[in-house]
Amino acid sequence: MKKIGVITSGGDAPGMNACLKTVVEMSYNYGYECIAFKRAYKGIIANDYFKITKADVASIFNIGGSMIYSARSKEFYEPEYKKIAADNIKALGLKALVVIGGNGSYMGAASLAELGVNVICIPATIDNDVHSTTEAIGFDSAVNNATNMIDNIKQTMQANERISIIECMGRHGGSIALYSAMASQADIVAVPEDPLNKEHIYRFIRDQLNFGNNSPTLVVAEKQYDVYALAKDVEHDFGHECRAVILGYMQRGGSPTVKDRMLAIRYGVAAIEAIDAGEKNIAIGLDNDRIISTPIEKAVKMHTNFRQDLYEAFKLLNNPRNKSK
Ligand code: F6P
Repeated sequence: MKKIGVITSGGDAPGMNACLKTVVEMSYNYGYECIAFKRAYKGIIANDYFKITKADVASIFNIGGSMIYSARSKEFYEPEYKKIAADNIKALGLKALVVIGGNGSYMGAASLAELGVNVICIPATIDNDVHSTTEAIGFDSAVNNATNMIDNIKQTMQANERISIIECMGRHGGSIALYSAMASQADIVAVPEDPLNKEHIYRFIRDQLNFGNNSPTLVVAEKQYDVYALAKDVEHDFGHECRAVILGYMQRGGSPTVKDRMLAIRYGVAAIEAIDAGEKNIAIGLDNDRIISTPIEKAVKMHTNFRQDLYEAFKLLNNPRNKSK
């Protein structure tokens, strides 16, 4: 029987399991056996795989995380381990390896492609930073998770008249911060695409307080500030209570949203169709809600998919001086 391999790789994303289920079911529907490697590239190097069946994936569709584990492999950066991985895949006689993951996972896939492995990539990362698609599986779920948490935090901050500084994930991009700040009606958003220094932040907070908002909500993307130190400084300098919250992994867990479930199905179906049609070394993606495919060597660039238009709209809406006009 012809075989297809599959991994889930990098930081996990809600909807990875839904996509895995789709890939497995589609493989058998098209007459392929499906082989799952555990822990992504680590499992390929270690030959840690099993035949995954429709029964195995029957109840994972709406569960976060990944039943075959997701991982980042330091070893895989070394040429000797890439060669071991490529050889292991070839020995299994796989027609293709489906890589469900983000930007780093795509780079791993591209190096396997150079060693003669056929790789088909599916974007799944809460950061939504894959160049070859406007939408990655998991982003919408993370944004919904973050929005719900910010909603809750805003209520308790309002009751106590406190300023809040809330940090979202996103690696090098500000998309989760921007979308969840908009959807939760936060007052200020700080993203790496438009870095704000302390002076800027203080000016925004001052504007909000002057405008009569006693509990301004500041949403920041990760890796920019020490939010606990910033909250202390704000509290000291404004004489107004301030709390910092890091949303962390709570954004990444949980059931995928409908949008991510639909993406997972569409990408999984497209991937197996492409393999069966003989396509090689591509990344599946979305553009204007249409499925597209991009050669893997072009897909590996990181791209934050940051929506400048939404950012501009957020700023217009949240400038108290505009509101008071
Ligand atoms: O890439 C997904 C992501 O959750 C990023 O948003 C975050 O910077 C990173 O992974 C966290 O990685 P780890 O799970 O290794 O702490």
